[in-house]
Amino acid sequence: MTEPEPAATASADGASAGVSISGLHKSYGDNEVLKGISMTVRPGEVVCLIGASGSGKSTLLRCVNRLEDPNAGTITVGSFETTHPDVDLDAMRRHIGMVFQQFNLFPHLSVLENCTITPRRVLKQATSEAEAEAMVQLRRVGLEDFAQRRPDQLSGGQQQRVAIARALTMRPQLMLFDEPTSALDPETVGDVLAIMRQLAEAGMTMLVVTHEMGFAREVADRVVFMDKGLVVEEGPAADVIGNPQQPRTQDFLRRVLNPTGVDLEA
Ligand SMILES: Nc1ncnc2c1ncn2[C@@H]1O[C@H](COP(=O)(O)OP(=O)(O)OP(=O)(O)O)[C@@H](O)[C@H]1O
Ligand SMILES: [Mg+2]
Repeated sequence: MTEPEPAATASADGASAGVSISGLHKSYGDNEVLKGISMTVRPGEVVCLIGASGSGKSTLLRCVNRLEDPNAGTITVGSFETTHPDVDLDAMRRHIGMVFQQFNLFPHLSVLENCTITPRRVLKQATSEAEAEAMVQLRRVGLEDFAQRRPDQLSGGQQQRVAIARALTMRPQLMLFDEPTSALDPETVGDVLAIMRQLAEAGMTMLVVTHEMGFAREVADRVVFMDKGLVVEEGPAADVIGNPQQPRTQDFLRRVLNPTGVDLEA
């Protein structure tokens, strides 16, 4: 097993954890979805994971916090070997925030209650303490004035910003994002990406599945391209997106950057 990475000191929120994935395999029945993935995210680094639908990106992310059990391989997040059979799942997940395409807010709770429920239940925080922390994080995403609203009174982009604030109330050392802007109206995508950019600048370790190539190019330290359960190409964003070497990466980027197939040069 590789040694867990040392914690970074740069994060505004305390330590950021690194991620180390080695020889990861995952099958559903006969369908081998991950075929031996090895990759790292250093503490404080932003890595964007790109690849075609069905290539295994979500499965990989879900293995990191053990929403899925891999069949083989190891994953460490900071000092936790998340794939260890005896790992304390609750303790481990406290350090890992996850943001999904569908925001998964509780519809019957206010924005503030959505942000305090987990710290109160899991960290046993007093309501006043949990609310103070929730307001810090809601301010950070620009939504402190929306604390008493219900999710259905917010736009999709605002709901996703609440989902990010909710994750941050646990002071995670790693944030996982699974296509956080795919379900949003185009005009609200920029606000969510801006929050993610701020988080990256504050030193948060981030593993982000995204089709936003502009964001990946600007914010990611590295980009990992997956195809059919394998890492095909990885490197600095400018190289992988700007000058891909592998034919499968080239083909994928051609389709993502020009989905209609119209010859833009003509
Ligand atoms: N719970 C499950 N049970 C069975 N098969 C699954 C399950 N989850 C995912 N799969 C299969 O695993 C493969 C990879 O799925 P995954 O969701 O990881 O891909 P993805 O790269 O995230 O795709 P997308 O870009 O569409 O989100 C697909 O063939 C999918 O049908
Ligand atoms: Mg997915």
